[in-house]
Amino acid sequence: MAYTKPPSCALCSVAPVNQGFAFGEGPTTARIMLVGEALGEQEANEGRPFVGGTGRMLRMMLHQAGLGPADYYLTNVVKCRPPGNATPKSTEIDFCTRTYLNQEVSHVSPNVIVPVGDTALRHFIPGAPAGITMVRGHIFASPMGKVIPIVHPSFVARGNPEFWAITVADLKRIKEHASSSSLPVRLERFNISPTLKEVLDTIKMLLETGTEFAFDIETLGERENINVICIGLAWSPHDAICIPFLRRGGYPSWLNEWEEFKAWEALCRLFEGDNIKITQNGFTFDLPVLIDLGMKFKRHTVVDTLIGHHVIATELPHSLAFLTSIYTEMDYYKGDVKKFGGMLWAPDEVLRNYNCRDCVATWQAKQHIWQEMKELNIYEKA
Ligand code: URA
Repeated sequence: MAYTKPPSCALCSVAPVNQGFAFGEGPTTARIMLVGEALGEQEANEGRPFVGGTGRMLRMMLHQAGLGPADYYLTNVVKCRPPGNATPKSTEIDFCTRTYLNQEVSHVSPNVIVPVGDTALRHFIPGAPAGITMVRGHIFASPMGKVIPIVHPSFVARGNPEFWAITVADLKRIKEHASSSSLPVRLERFNISPTLKEVLDTIKMLLETGTEFAFDIETLGERENINVICIGLAWSPHDAICIPFLRRGGYPSWLNEWEEFKAWEALCRLFEGDNIKITQNGFTFDLPVLIDLGMKFKRHTVVDTLIGHHVIATELPHSLAFLTSIYTEMDYYKGDVKKFGGMLWAPDEVLRNYNCRDCVATWQAKQHIWQEMKELNIYEKA
C-alpha cells in the first residue's frame, strides 16, 4: 500500500508518475540525522524510509557503531520513489527539499547531518572536493550545520564489502561528534618558505629535544631519475615545516647551491640521529629514495603508521588519505595538488601546504594508532 502523497507534492514535475511517500522517521530530539537519496521499492510500499535491504544494512552498521534508534533520525533528500527508480534530477531535488527536507532539518536541528551517498552529499555540500568514497568521514561546514558523509549502503552491497567496516568506523566518529554542533578548531602553523636559518634551527631543536616527528617527501620523476621537490617535517598536530628543493616547473628553490647543500646536510644529520623518533606512512617509497640519495637511517628510529594500522585494523585500508579521514579532523585536502595537474604544476604554496598536511596527518595518526595498540596490549609485541 503506497502512502498517499501530501497535496504539496502536486506541483512537483514527477507527481503524476512517482511512487510512494515517506517522511523521516525517528525522535525529533535525535542529535544525528541521516539523509539518503530517495525511496526504494519497499520503502515506497511501506511509506517508511530505509526499511528495505539497504536500509537494514544501514541499521546494522549503526548498531555496530553503538548507535540505537533513539540516537538517529532517518530521512531522504527526495521523499518518493522517482519514476524508474532513477537518480532524482536536480529540479526534483530542489522542489522536494524546499517543500520538506529543509523544514525537517530546522525542526530536528541535529548536531550532525549525515548525507548517505553521493546525491545527499551534493545536496548539502554542492562544492564537495571529491566523490563520496573520498570525502566520507570528513567533517564539513554547511549552512545547515556540521556535515559528515558516509557511503550509501547500496554501494557496499554492490561489491564493495570493505566499505562495511569503513562505514562503521565513520559512524563511530559521527557518534563522537553528535554531542555538539560545533566544528573542530583547525589550526595550522606551517612554515612553507623557511630561510636556511629556520631550517637549521628546526632541525637543531628536533635533534636536541628528541621530539617525535613525522616526515614526508614529494618527488618528481621515476626511481632512476628522481628529484626531491620538498621534505616536510611535523612535530605536533599543528606544527610543520616544508623544506623545499624545487619550485613549480622544476626550478631550484634555494638561493644558491651552498644553501641547498647546507639544508640537505642538516636533514642528513637529522635522519642519522640516534635520539630521534621518526614516523612515516609507508616508508617503502620515501626511505629508499632518500637512501639512494645518500641519507642514512637507524633502524630503531623509524616507525610506520601503515604497518601499525595494519596490526590494529587489518580489514581497513591503511593509506594516509584513509587514516586522515578517521584519525584527524582535517579538511579533505587530498585533491589539492591533483587539480593543478600534479606535482610539477601545482603552485608552490599549494604543494608545500599539502606536504605539511601529509606530515601533521601522519603525526596525528601515529598518536592514535599507538594509543590503540597500548589499549589492545599489543604495543610491546608490535
Ligand atoms: N535508499 C535510500 O537512499 N533511502 C531509503 O530510504 C532507502 C534506500
